[in-house]
Amino acid sequence: MRKQSNLAARELTQPLLPGFDAETMALIAAKPTRETAKKLGRKFELFLGAIRRQQPFDGLEQHFKDALETAARDPVALYRFFQLYNYFNGGIAPAIAPLVGNIGKSRDLFTDPETPVTAEASYAFAIAREVQKASTDEYGDPNYRDLVTGQKLDHRRLSDGLMKAVGNYAGLSDQERNGFEVPAWLVANKKDIQKLYAGAEGNLAKLAQALGMHFTSEYSADAIEFSNACKSLFIDHKNEGLHHYLCENPYISVGGNTFAAHSWLQTHGGWDAEKNEIRHGVEYVHLVTGFAAMALMVGKAGPEKKMIAQKNFLEGIRNGQKLLDDFFIGAKAECEKILAARDVPVPGRKTARHLSAQPA
Ligand SMILES: [Fe+2]
Ligand SMILES: [Fe+2]
Repeated sequence: MRKQSNLAARELTQPLLPGFDAETMALIAAKPTRETAKKLGRKFELFLGAIRRQQPFDGLEQHFKDALETAARDPVALYRFFQLYNYFNGGIAPAIAPLVGNIGKSRDLFTDPETPVTAEASYAFAIAREVQKASTDEYGDPNYRDLVTGQKLDHRRLSDGLMKAVGNYAGLSDQERNGFEVPAWLVANKKDIQKLYAGAEGNLAKLAQALGMHFTSEYSADAIEFSNACKSLFIDHKNEGLHHYLCENPYISVGGNTFAAHSWLQTHGGWDAEKNEIRHGVEYVHLVTGFAAMALMVGKAGPEKKMIAQKNFLEGIRNGQKLLDDFFIGAKAECEKILAARDVPVPGRKTARHLSAQPA
């Protein structure tokens, strides 16, 4: 009996993930400088390495690449991909605010045991602030402005601009663009992501799962989606297809704004052709602030809450991966439908032309 309770106590104090220590807390609280950012970055990389070992993202990356590669076989399929991807991403950025609110509202859940007066002890807003940092540029990016007015542009506008440019590249009329419907599975996928992303007021397990979803979304955007998209479209297929079109037609006007058509990809991340590695954009910054939120949630908690938060954070990553995976797989299937309808050859699949040429 005694042996069992010792084991339970050991389990409670054993950290599942590195980086939730006093030094990290001090770095989050310190005046932001190049030096503190560098040190926090090192803590984050340790944390990221441990997560990757526990929750490999290889399958997710492969499914994203498969979807994009399928889409890139044909300009209309590529337009369909960006239309679906625009809808998918348009549901994620607004999911951050409910999570920020639910953490902020959970005042009594996050109280510092070292502060003697309970009414002065809540650090819920500090956690919420780190999550909030991921959404500010969504609604006005200081680095991507209207070329005429100088107004900051929101990420939906930038995404709409790229989607419009891909539609122009594909030669699609307005009517044809409006003919593509949002599939029911994607509406359901968006709702499931938003539900997991929101967490729930006063519920540590659900809030930690939501941070896991947030982490997965930012990680995938940085390390999988925007980096691979830029590599595939602009480096592996340099001067071909969409890249060639955008070199000839670099600007786009949509909703009264004019800007560089590839801005939406650029701001989130990309690929450094010379170094042959990811070029981090805002998604990496969001990822590090997500780590800071988790470090605050875990670092100041008592042993039992520490364990609940970490286990549920990892569960949120697992569930988040599944939802992103469902989107990539679903998007690929929608693009395959376009390829089949347009009789575009796909390795391993017979086209209508091939089939009609077969002897009866
Ligand atoms: Fe964004
Ligand atoms: Fe982000």
